[in-house]
Formats: sequence, C-alpha cells, structure tokens
Amino acid sequence: MMKGARANVIDAIGSTPIIKLNKVAAHVASDIYVKCEFLNPGGSMKDRVALNIIQDAERRGLLQPGSTIIEATSGNTGAGLALVAALRGYKCIFVMPDKMSNEKILALRAFGAKVVICPTAVEPDDPRSYYEVTKRLVRETPNSFHSNQYYNPANPEAHYLSTAPEIWRETAGELDVFVAGMGTGGTISGCGRYFKEKKPGFQVVGVDPIGSLYYEYVKTGRMTKPFSYYVEGIGEDFLPGTMNLKIIDQIMRVDDKECFLMTRELVRQEGLFVGGSSGAAVAGAIKYAEQLGEQHKNILVLLPDSAQKYLSKIFDDEWMRSNGFLDEEDPLGTVRDLLAQKRQRAIVAAHKGETLRNVIGLMKEHGISQVPVLDGGRLSGLLSEIDLLNYMLKHSGQMEVTIDELVEADYATVTPETRIQLLKNIFNEAKLVCVLERDDLVGVITKIDLIDYLASKRA
Ligand SMILES: Cc1ncc(COP(=O)(O)O)c(C=O)c1O
Repeated sequence: MMKGARANVIDAIGSTPIIKLNKVAAHVASDIYVKCEFLNPGGSMKDRVALNIIQDAERRGLLQPGSTIIEATSGNTGAGLALVAALRGYKCIFVMPDKMSNEKILALRAFGAKVVICPTAVEPDDPRSYYEVTKRLVRETPNSFHSNQYYNPANPEAHYLSTAPEIWRETAGELDVFVAGMGTGGTISGCGRYFKEKKPGFQVVGVDPIGSLYYEYVKTGRMTKPFSYYVEGIGEDFLPGTMNLKIIDQIMRVDDKECFLMTRELVRQEGLFVGGSSGAAVAGAIKYAEQLGEQHKNILVLLPDSAQKYLSKIFDDEWMRSNGFLDEEDPLGTVRDLLAQKRQRAIVAAHKGETLRNVIGLMKEHGISQVPVLDGGRLSGLLSEIDLLNYMLKHSGQMEVTIDELVEADYATVTPETRIQLLKNIFNEAKLVCVLERDDLVGVITKIDLIDYLASKRA
C-alpha cells in the first residue's frame, strides 16, 4: 500500500469538514457552523448508516456472500448501501416513493442496484405503499436481508458511534446546539444522545417540514393528518422506531419555499453545494438562533446531501416558478390571504373540560360541524359532529360529561405562510385545517372556506 492512500472507498466515509456560515446567518448573534456530510463518497451522511447496518448484519450472521439487501429508501441510504454492497459483493433492491428525483433513481441504478418505484399518495398500510412492497419483496427474495433503516437500531447507532464523536473531537466540545432535519430520526437520535451524554444542558433542535406529523406530535402528543410536501428526506407520516423524540428539546417548522430558497442561498452565497433538506435544516437553525436574540451559542447544523440530485428541481428556475417557490407573487397566495378574506374571522373554539351540552350549543349557535378544542390557549385537538353523535347514541343522550374523551386528531396544521397550493389534497385526509402561528391558534379553515377563496380568486 502506498503511503497516504486509503485501502478502499469505505475508508473515505466520514471525516467531513465543519465550516462556518458567513453570509446567510450574518444577522444572528450566534455562530452557525455546518457539518458537510454531503461530501461523503456516496453523497450523504447515510454512508455511515449503511456501513454500520451492513457491519452489524455481518456480525449477526444475517448477510452471507450473494445475499440481497432490500431497503425502502428515498435514495441516500440506497446509495450508501449500494456502495458498501458493491465492495462486499452483495446485491441490492431499493423501493422508492414516486416523488423522488430522477437523478436519485439513476444514481442507484448506476451502482447496479434494482429500483422499484411506488405511489406516494397511498396510506402506509396500502399494499402498493413502499413499506408494504418492501415487506413483500423481503418475503419473496431468497437469502435476502431487510436493512430496515426505519426500525434498525444500527441506524441511530451509526451517528452515535461515528458522526457525533467526530464532531465532538473536531470542535473540542465547544458546541452548544445541534440542529438536524428529522427523517428516520437516525441522525438526531444518535447524535443527540451522544452530545447530551457529553454536556449537560446541550440543546438538540429538530427541523420538520409542514405536512409531516412530527411537529404536532412533539407539541401535543397527537398524530394529526400528514399531507404531501416537496422537500425530500425529512418529515414522516408515521413514527419510525429509530426516532427518539424524547431527545429533542425544540422543534422548528419550515415550509418548502423557505427550504428551497435557503438551499439556493447556501450554494450561491456560501459555496455549499447541498440539497433541499440542508436548506431546511439551516432555515430551522436560523429561526432558532433568531429566537435566542442576543444570546451567543455555537450551533452546528448537519447538511445531509448534495445538490447534484436536485439540479432539475430546486436549481431549475422553471420548476421553482411553476411550483410557486420563486419570489414572484404566487397567484393563489398563502393561508394568511385566505384568513384575511374569510367572512367569519373570529375563531370559534371549545375548551378542554367543557361539557358536551355547552359545546353542542356552541356548534349550533355558529352553524358549524367541527370545532377546535383549546387547552390553556393551545390547540389540543378537534371535536366533530359525528363524534358527538356516536357518543350520544352509545350513551343514551348523556350531555353533562366533559368533551375531553372525545377530542380527536383528524386535522392538519399549517402556518399563515403556507401556500394555498400546498392545501390541494389536504381535505381528502383531514376534516379541518388549523392555522398556528408560534403555536397559537390564529385561524381555522374548512372545506367551504377553501372553496369560497378559490372561487373568489377565479372571479
Ligand atoms: C436528504 C436527507 N436529508 C435528511 C434525512 C433525514 O435523516 P434521518 O433519517 O437520519 O432522520 C434524510 C434521510 O433519509 C435524507 O435522505
């Protein structure tokens, strides 16, 4: 072996640089640094995960020469697995949802992997969903190993054993806050655990896209209705086994537009050639730093993958414009525009502890069939006509009980900045849309409100 050379590409995983942001976060008192995981050989931090998953499976005898690795992946875990598998002589089959960029699919095929595409707009338990198709392929493929990044403890462990100690060593422990997007939760759970063990008071901040269910779940413990969004790799419509939400101190919400505009700024102003979830994580970190005001903290943001796979989306003006992500006026406007135009602006809400009788009176008085329920000013759930009816039929018209047991989560939450475009499919899933600004309920949107608004735009 020649001096200075690495034995193979696996030895080039990790040791990514940490770089200070100089322009996009110049207005905050804290310093924001980024960990450039997009510089890994497979193009993302998932190289570390893939390596740890494969080594763990080999140790446990789950992988033998000629085995086929099967994974439901949005691309990056696939690239990492394909790379390590290529060196170790395993075959790979990847199952991907159809919203993923074509570049990601082609990159996996380049490594010799087989890629199966599944529809995004189906429930996770639908036989066509990528979770179910994966399970079927695992059953039907002989000598297969399901790497299962959503439930495999070797995923967060990769970050606990590799990413986090590396960051800690390089920064000599001067770090105060770690910020990462939340997908499988591997990054945030593994790194978060390590940093918290190292430093009391260390803050772990998760970033979640609007449409994903993590944010509301962390805030209220309720599984609200997820809906689709464009940023890839972060946010979920279920709770993966690899996500440890207890490790998270704060959760920041971002929308597609701010993620993509920040991604473009990171490339143009900082020269960091990163993908959309990196823009999301930095946008979330800046919001967090803004909340800190004059306090100074050393904040580190993990940048998961590179811009390469998103050139025909985030970096294509035509794609950005047609989805309303460029600064030009979006013809349909935002939720704030809809609320401003709504006829009945005052929010009608019930409160935890109220009796069924009161709430039925309230709903009759205002002619509404569902009502948000507040707990000390914060949204705690939804109550709808059908739940009241079912309860009364079952309990022979009992009306003096509290509504607390009947509160459900059949709603989606958005912010005033959410674009109306994004609400397109929301009412197929959710009964009501609740608008939250800094966690306060500032409006509710029903189907008829959206119809009224779209009709007025058309006129
Ligand atoms: C581009 C990208 N960003 C962020 C994430 C989220 O990381 P994690 O799964 O560790 O939560 C992923 C995960 O697939 C990803 O592919």
